[in-house]
Amino acid sequence: MTDDGPVEVVRRGYDALSWRYRADDADAGQYAPWIAELSAAIPPHSRVLDIGCGCGVPVARDLTAAGHRVTGVDLSDVQIERARRLVPGATFICADATTMAFPPESYEAVVALYSLIHVPMPDQSALLRAIAGCLVPDGLVLLTAGWKAWTGADSAWLGGTATMWWSHADVATYRRWLADAGLDVTREEFVPEGTSGHSLFWARRG
Ligand SMILES: C[S@@+](CC[C@H](N)C(=O)[O-])C[C@H]1O[C@@H](n2cnc3c(N)ncnc32)[C@H](O)[C@@H]1O
Repeated sequence: MTDDGPVEVVRRGYDALSWRYRADDADAGQYAPWIAELSAAIPPHSRVLDIGCGCGVPVARDLTAAGHRVTGVDLSDVQIERARRLVPGATFICADATTMAFPPESYEAVVALYSLIHVPMPDQSALLRAIAGCLVPDGLVLLTAGWKAWTGADSAWLGGTATMWWSHADVATYRRWLADAGLDVTREEFVPEGTSGHSLFWARRG
């Protein structure tokens, strides 16, 4: 870890590791049933906000192909440059999602897969409230969060040379934060990874 704060570490990390994380032509893999379920659960041509959209593959790509209007937000210039090239039918914004003022009640769904866990802990619950605020009433949320509390870094993640940083609260904390934000959890799954895993939440704005 350098003297930079965690947001800069994450930004620089994904600038360096974008292709190691996801190839241009990656298939949807474990995301395929999630994307299909989300797409079917929202009206045709829905507005979908993808927070921490990465290179746009597979979420923005597959939701755009299904006819939805996707806006992706990501911290990393490299991820956003790739997303604009790979998913020309969607809109992409290079920004720190925690500092954005999302338009109120403007999206039928918000997706945040494996991105909230890169946000510094004090900003995570605020981001969940911002997500709730930009959803239409009854709008849908699909997000990955932590399972066990853990904060740390890896200086050789994915076999690269850039440092990556994460901050996970435990799953009970995410349940509470979602409820406090006015998001009603409709389903929760444990997604195993290595010796631990993540929680996957489906929620609706109440
Ligand atoms: C693990 S990748 C996941 C990418 C994509 N959601 C997926 O599941 O394929 C996490 C992404 O979140 C982005 N990210 C992390 N913190 C962010 C923030 N504060 N604002 C916007 N994007 C962020 C990173 O730049 C990275 O592209």
